[in-house]
Parts: sequence; structure tokens; C-alpha cells
Amino acid sequence: MPEAAAGQENIEALYAENRTFPPPADFVAGSKYADPAVYAEAAADPEAFWAKQAERLDWFQKWDTVLEWDAPFAKWYVGGKLNVAHNCLDRHVAAGNGDRVAYYWEGEPGDARTITYADLLAEVEQTANALKSLGVKKGDRVAIYMPMIPELPVAMLACTRIGAPHTVVFGGFSSSALADRINDAQAKIVITADGGYRRGQASGLKPNVDVALASTESIEHVVVVKRTGQEIDFVEGRDIWWHDLVPQQEASCPAEPMDSEDMLYLLYTSGTTAKPKGILHTTGGYLTGVAATHEMIFDLKEDDIYWAAADIGWVTGHSYIVYGPLANGATSVMYEGTPDFPDWDRWWEIIEKYKVTLVYMAPTAIRAHMKQGAQHAEAHDLSSLRLIGTVGEPINPEAWVWYHTHIGGERCPVVDTWWQTETGMIMISPMPAITTTKPGSATFPIPGVEADVVDSDGNSRPLGSGGYLVLKKPWPAMLRGIYGDPERYKATYWSRFPGLYFPGDGCKRDEAGYYWLLGRVDDVMNVSGHRLSTTEIESALVAHPAVAEAAVVGQPDEVTGEAIFAFVIVKKEIEPTDELGQELRKHVARVIGPIARPKSVMFTPDLPKTRSGKIMRRLLKDIATNRPLGDTTTLADAGVVDIIQSSARGGKDDD
Ligand code: WTA
Repeated sequence: MPEAAAGQENIEALYAENRTFPPPADFVAGSKYADPAVYAEAAADPEAFWAKQAERLDWFQKWDTVLEWDAPFAKWYVGGKLNVAHNCLDRHVAAGNGDRVAYYWEGEPGDARTITYADLLAEVEQTANALKSLGVKKGDRVAIYMPMIPELPVAMLACTRIGAPHTVVFGGFSSSALADRINDAQAKIVITADGGYRRGQASGLKPNVDVALASTESIEHVVVVKRTGQEIDFVEGRDIWWHDLVPQQEASCPAEPMDSEDMLYLLYTSGTTAKPKGILHTTGGYLTGVAATHEMIFDLKEDDIYWAAADIGWVTGHSYIVYGPLANGATSVMYEGTPDFPDWDRWWEIIEKYKVTLVYMAPTAIRAHMKQGAQHAEAHDLSSLRLIGTVGEPINPEAWVWYHTHIGGERCPVVDTWWQTETGMIMISPMPAITTTKPGSATFPIPGVEADVVDSDGNSRPLGSGGYLVLKKPWPAMLRGIYGDPERYKATYWSRFPGLYFPGDGCKRDEAGYYWLLGRVDDVMNVSGHRLSTTEIESALVAHPAVAEAAVVGQPDEVTGEAIFAFVIVKKEIEPTDELGQELRKHVARVIGPIARPKSVMFTPDLPKTRSGKIMRRLLKDIATNRPLGDTTTLADAGVVDIIQSSARGGKDDD
């Protein structure tokens, strides 16, 4: 039974998932991180734990103080000096690992490059000299707007080598999004490409830069990589081809000793309203946090082939395609394209080709594969995999089980990792050789991280109930602020619950203390005074054998305040009928209780998503309430809303 909700602003915990998966014995036997004592050790003295983690890096000068905490402003490894590119490249080459592969890069059209640590270092040094030749100095901001080609991490590392913070703008963003970010960061240079490949088409990037620069004033030069060879305009004196600039440079460029707290990069997150926030990350704490978590959570070993199937334009790519893996000297796969081109087996083909052992992807991709069916994965040998991970959204238990069964061959631990652009690093996740997992739960805060679930007054909620997720102690990779706006930083993250960091997510804990993320609290629905999370109802829908993906929103209702409106994508071979709509409504009532029964179910071939794959419930709410659509600029596919609006069918409440 749902707990009483009247007057209590808690999110209810309704959905129960009882399957458990202990870590496989052979996985435990081979892991460096199999001793649960690490949790108690880190909790007893988190600063000592994080100091030990920082020793994995090369410091030009060691820090004096591990943490200075003047809430909500943190400084980590104060007084320490280091360089990120040096830690990601030089020290591996100096240790004799120059021939180790840093990236197996695979282009969408099927072209491929193998790049060793020595290759990467050489290109980064020349690129760093190229930036210097254009007048870029320590502290200057560089905007990067590129497809997923090797020059993208090269450009980022070249910036870090000379101490110029970068701001990577995802290549799918429009010229106006690019202009906003350039203006906020006051970037001096843009590094881009003529275009990139997406589903077999060359799409333009440089043309968007040209449009953006009409409304910016800070940019002095545009460096352009030739990727597609498409026709582009060139502005004499401003624009320079990468190939006319970089290969001509001196081979060596010293790595600038940076202060631990110097800015490493800005990455913009689009808030639901208002202007995007420039999330500010610094050097020593960030690199420590991403390197440590990349090794611990993925159980990284020397011979692993690791692949994060994400875009470097998102924080997942920054932390777990570029900085974490390179700091650890890992061998990664980097892929330019989408999962469905030329066919739905492209990713599985890549895993087979490179014998990938560790793979990391978003729940939205897993649900898309689930919709297509397992035959694509079954056509490939995925037996090299030994661990599989997810990030970006709550993963529905059924999608988790599908991933575990069809991709992980029932032998791979699944790490469901909760974190944010703002946290910089993974915060809540299984430790794969320690934690018994439950499908749909990110399990526990990792060693060295302290979290809680609280009520609206900030009091800890008992196990078995829901509320607001908070983080209780500073952590090394945390954001240091919103660029140029300390007040907004305080107001956004630290004012809701004084002294606690509030990420904006709802969460419940079960009786055993497992954390179950419930989605953004902005999306919570209030039905007859019960505060219901979108995630649990969506998971109940996805648990029905006909359903591949679902999104629910609240629709104003005279009787109940809000009523639940469900958008449902069925699996490929299923016919969406009105009877099925009724059946799904009953199914939800059966699985989690009558209070959660959707009032309406609408079948749709697609859902509006951001370009990083998160469902935009705000737009669905506009559709469900027949109001004009709000801001659609971050929508991945602008046509999808029309498709949904024109495909109205499903089951309505008639009882
Ligand atoms: C959501 C992505 C549940 C959450 C790294 C968070 C998740 C937001 C998970 C951050 C997860 C991310 N389970 N929810 N494993 N991972 N989220 O900044 O709402 O793109 O606040 O960072 O995604 O998204 P961002």
C-alpha cells in the first residue's frame, strides 16, 4: 500500500523489484576491488581515501591540503601542481607504453584509425603549439564544435597542455546554441570541422559556426578539420585549415604546470528554462575523481578494451571517453556514428571487431535495441564482454534484464551509474566485484561518497521510502561553480536543503538501503495528493511484454489534481490497439496499485528526446494538455512532436 501522503511532500515508493544478481565468482576472483572493507575505510576518513586516490597521478608539486571546504565552495589538493595532458599522455609514453593503443577509432562510413599513446602525444604537442601560434594563452577559453573524430580529443588535450580551458559544444547543437556558449565563455578560438557523418549523410558544422559568429565578438580564429570534404565558406584571415596549421608545428610543447584548482573546462547544461549554465570543472580533483572511478567501477585491467558508446560533447564523453580512460592508460574504442546505421547491429559488430571487454551506454539506446529485438545482437559474438554499464537516466528493470541477458550473456555484472555533468564523476553505482545488483537500482553511493534521501525539510527518510536525493560531503570532481555566476550556483544546488547538495532527482531506498533513482523532481506528478514518480510507472509499463519504451506525464484533472497520461512505444512486432491500451492501464494498476493507473494511454512511434537521449517530458506535457509547445531547441528530432500529435490512438479512461 502507498504510504499516506497528505501534507507530506515525499515521493512515494510503489514499485517493487525483487530479482538480485550477486557478482559472478570468477569476476570477483580476478578483481582488484573485491574487498568490501573499502566502503568502511573510505567512510571513516574520506579525505584520506581521496588523498590516496590522487597519488595515482603525477604531480609536479604535491598538494599541502587535501580539501578546503568553505561551503558551498570546495578546493581540492590545494597547492598541488599538475598537468592533465601530461598525466593522460607523457607519463604513459615515459613508462614505455607509447605503443599501447589509446583509441581504436571507427568512423561512421567504415574508415578506421588506430592511435597509440605516442601518436596521440605527438599530435597533441603540435596542436598545442598551433594554438599558441594563434595567440591562445593560459586561461583563454577555446570553443570546440566537432564530430566524433580523433581531432576532438586531440584538441581538448592540446588545450589542457597549455592551460587553456575548453568548452566543447555538442556537434548536434544549432548555431544559436553555439553562439550562446561562445558568448558566455568569451571564447577566443573555435575548433571545428567542415562537417560530420550522421546516418550516411554529411552534415555541416562549419556553416553553423559562420552563422554563430555573426552574433559573437570574442572569436579571433576558426580552425577547421577536413572531415567530409563538403563545400564550405572560408573567411580570409580568420579561418585556417587544421592540415595547414598543425603538421607544420614544432614537435615538442612543454606541459604547463597548472594549479590543482585552475579551470580545466566549462561544459554547458541547458536548464529547463533560462540561459544555459556553464558548469565549471577544475584540474586536480576532477582528474583524480574520473581516473579513480573509471578504474574502480569498470574494474579496469591492463588488457581491457573499453568502449563508452557516447558523444564527447556530453560529460560522459569528457569523463569516460577522454580524461578517465587516458589518465588510466586504457585502450578505448571511439565511434563516430549512431547505433542504427547502416543497420541496428552496428554496435554489436564493433564489439565483435575490437573484442570489447567493457561497454558503457545509455538506457535510451538499450530500450531502442530492445524495441528492434535481440536478433541483431545474437548475430554477433559478444563473448569478449566482461562488464556492461549504463548512464544517463533511470534504467527500467526490464531494460536492465534485457541488457544483462542479450548483451551481457548473463555473465557480465551490470553497473548502473548515477551522476551528472555537475558531479563530474560517477557517484552512485555498484562496485562490480562487491555489490549484489538489483535491476533498476544504482545500488549504493561509491566509496568516498556520502548521500542520503531526505524529506522536504531535509530530514533523512527511513529505509523503504522515497524523497529527495542529496549529497552530504564534497567530492573531488564536483563542479566548482557556474561560470561567472556564484549566486546561481548557490541558488540552484545548495539552497533547497541548507548544507546539502541537491541534484534535482527524486530517489527511494528499499529496506536493504539500495538507492532507486526516480527521475527529476520537476517531473513528479501529484495524483489525489499522492506524489508519484514518472520512473516507477514507466518501469511498470516497460515490464509489459508488448512495451519497448514509455514516458508518463501529469495532465491537469478536475478531480484528482493531476491525472497520469502515458505515451507508449510498442515492440516492433506488436499491433497498438485500443484493447492493448486498456490492458496496459490495468497492468499498471495491478503492478503498482490503482493510484498509478494511467488515465490515458497514447501509442506513439517515437518520443521527444534531448540530443543526449533524455526524454523531454515537458514537451509531452504540452502535448497531453493541448497547449502550445515550449522551447524545442534542445530536441534531437524536431519532427517527432508532429508525429506524436498525428498518431493519437490508445486507451482512455471510461470507467
Ligand atoms: C539522470 C549524465 C538515474 C539524473 C552523466 C541526473 C540518472 C541527470 C542516471 C544528469 C542513472 C544520470 N539513473 N538517473 N544511472 N544517470 N541520470 O548532466 O536525472 O547529462 O540528474 O549527466 O541524468 O544528466 P547529465
